[in-house]
Amino acid sequence: MADLRRALELVRTVPDFPEPGVLFRDLNPLFADAEAVRTVVDAMAAGLPADVDVIAAVEARGFLLGGPVAVALGCGLVPIRKPGKLPAVADRVDYSLEYGTASLELPAGVLEPGQRVAVVDDVLATGGTVAAVCQLVERAGARVSAVSVVLELTALGGRGLLPGRDIQVLQTI
Ligand code: PRP
Repeated sequence: MADLRRALELVRTVPDFPEPGVLFRDLNPLFADAEAVRTVVDAMAAGLPADVDVIAAVEARGFLLGGPVAVALGCGLVPIRKPGKLPAVADRVDYSLEYGTASLELPAGVLEPGQRVAVVDDVLATGGTVAAVCQLVERAGARVSAVSVVLELTALGGRGLLPGRDIQVLQTI
């Protein structure tokens, strides 16, 4: 617990990035600290159901956590990508972000119907990103077992877009 507190204290708050008025949560100092990464990855893995088949990790910062969490759980990983990166796209969802709009794509041929999926990302803000991933997963016929993030920014109300979801959070701000 003390280790987790120390790890989360490494998150830096940067005002006015990427736009005036936005408080950016910078996890880079946490990612740069081996002990903190291990503590956070272990905590995320421990909070997820043991029967997860695959991690859906969100580009880009979600990749940094999703890979190690997948290894810790002994399951596979599906990268959920921004447009223009995939040679073959199964599906695409457009959504709103705290700052701007965005799209996410599911790679073709990697998610099987019926698979149990855990969505991993660094921050839950407006919830648009995780909601888009859940849509991609469910439209592919797979099931979202849980969502795991390091930080939840409660003022942005992300849970409102994720009714009924099992959402694991290491810290709410
Ligand atoms: C950030 C963050 C989450 C998302 C959360 O990603 O890593 O994926 O925003 O916001 P939301 O809950 O309002 O949707 P960003 O799109 O900035 O991309 P990056 O990881 O590539 O920096």
